[in-house]
Amino acid sequence: MAVRVIEVDEFDLVVFGGTGDLAHRKLLPALYHRDLDRQLPAGARIVVTARRRYADADYRDWAAAALGEHVADLDEAALKRFLARIRYVPLDVDAGTGWSELAAVLEERPDVVRVFYLAVAPDFFGPICEGIGGEGLVNATTRVVIEKPIGKDGASARALNATIGAVFDEHQIFRIDHYLGKETVQNLMALRFANALFEPLWNAAHVDHVQITVAESLGVGGRAGYYDAAGALRDMVQNHLLQLLCLAAMEPPESMDADSVRDEKLKVLKALAPITGDSVDRLTVRGQYRAGASAGGAVPGYLEELGRDDSRTETFVALKVQIANWRWAGVPFYLRTGKRLATRVSEIVVQFRPIPHSIFDPEAGPIAANRLILRLQPDEGVTMQVMIKDPGPGGMRLRQVPLDMSFAEAFKVRNPDAYERLLMDVIRGNQTLFMRRDEVDAAWSWIDPILDAWAAGAGHPKPYTSGTWGPSAAIALIERDGRTWAEDGL
Ligand code: NDP
Ligand code: BG6
Repeated sequence: MAVRVIEVDEFDLVVFGGTGDLAHRKLLPALYHRDLDRQLPAGARIVVTARRRYADADYRDWAAAALGEHVADLDEAALKRFLARIRYVPLDVDAGTGWSELAAVLEERPDVVRVFYLAVAPDFFGPICEGIGGEGLVNATTRVVIEKPIGKDGASARALNATIGAVFDEHQIFRIDHYLGKETVQNLMALRFANALFEPLWNAAHVDHVQITVAESLGVGGRAGYYDAAGALRDMVQNHLLQLLCLAAMEPPESMDADSVRDEKLKVLKALAPITGDSVDRLTVRGQYRAGASAGGAVPGYLEELGRDDSRTETFVALKVQIANWRWAGVPFYLRTGKRLATRVSEIVVQFRPIPHSIFDPEAGPIAANRLILRLQPDEGVTMQVMIKDPGPGGMRLRQVPLDMSFAEAFKVRNPDAYERLLMDVIRGNQTLFMRRDEVDAAWSWIDPILDAWAAGAGHPKPYTSGTWGPSAAIALIERDGRTWAEDGL
């Protein structure tokens, strides 16, 4: 089936930090693909700013090299068309230079949608917003995209949001969490709310527990400086994993309208049972990778990569989370994420309760409870584990089989990167897949006590060997409850 692509309105997208890693690996390839699919209107411009003093042609060469590296099968004509959209304006935020040149470029088209994308270190978020406001660059259709991290705790997030809020209205602010743009994450909403089948079972009466795993095989690489001040709880749980949990646990929103969805997510965040004081040791596990093997080769430990031996930063975290409301009372949500784990896989597993009574002879074999697995990456898809009769003669023997739907196989379309969807949503002004200010506050309110307890305690993260599933305490966290981490897709 042909994919229907609706062209977005004319726009100028200003990328601050356009020479950085995010632009190189994600933003340029995403914009190229949307252009390739003819979603960008004829006049759309990408106005790149960064410190280095490139001319337009220098940056276009840089962008072409980035696309050559990150896009398979570059189309020469589409590449040429895409590069022609790019303007480059040197702008140094520290020195305060380049603002009037940027303003002059934008004044050429005062009436088009104007997006400012802040792909720079968080210290620049405030000064750039103030610069945009000070130069009078905010027009009626302006939007600003804020990358993560939004603060390092509740207080710093509130201060940052106040600075941004002094220049932009909340409806203009797009706080990006790229996990919300992933196909399977949106499919979670389709599965839950476009089918009659699941919602009646989606509650404590039928669900035993939920697991959310975001495992990475890579280490911190060149980002050790940023990462050591963050750690897995801030880098992954405060945003990506809690957002996944919200979408899995929220009540049906009234509509897909941004505030309806975000109101429901906020209720989940507010219902999270606090993990404080003594319960922190019982309900959380933090780990730090040591040297080991990954993708077949030897890899160094976190401390060696960092070049220090005194860091207590966690590169792995596992948590047992309870949602204190009617739907989920007594149903644990087990969360885990880490770097240098055995493989790269992200999935949400909904484990249903066992059947209440078996009518089968013991010879039929054990009856495993149903399990729904939503795989975010790699190989996006949905699997439902069900029991069937083993085919053929031999009487009634039961067997568990996966009802498997791999999106790649089922639809034969390229799976778009999350940034493609999210960038087009910004231009369309659709905030459904972006975090509202009160969501960020609520997430930090739940995370802060865990960070405080870890900081106050004398404990260190538990070491784990690179290429494994994290410290053994993470296995114990779930096995103490008589459950195990799902291994279906691993
Ligand atoms: P990089 O360090 O790779 O890039 C930083 C960019 O900021 C460069 O374009 C640099 O320009 C520019 N810059 C630095 N100093 C100044 C200055 N004084 N004035 C103007 N521009 C300046 O960062 P990333 O691309 O990795 O990250 C950008 C943001 O995105 C961060 O907030 C990060 O947390 C977030 N993010 C990144 C992810 C990633 O995968 N990289 C994933 C999720 C979020 P120049 O080259 O000219 O010095
Ligand atoms: C980012 C984190 O937000 O997400 C990184 O800062 C992490 O540490 C990345 O590697 C994972 O994203 P993805 O899409 O590769 O799973």
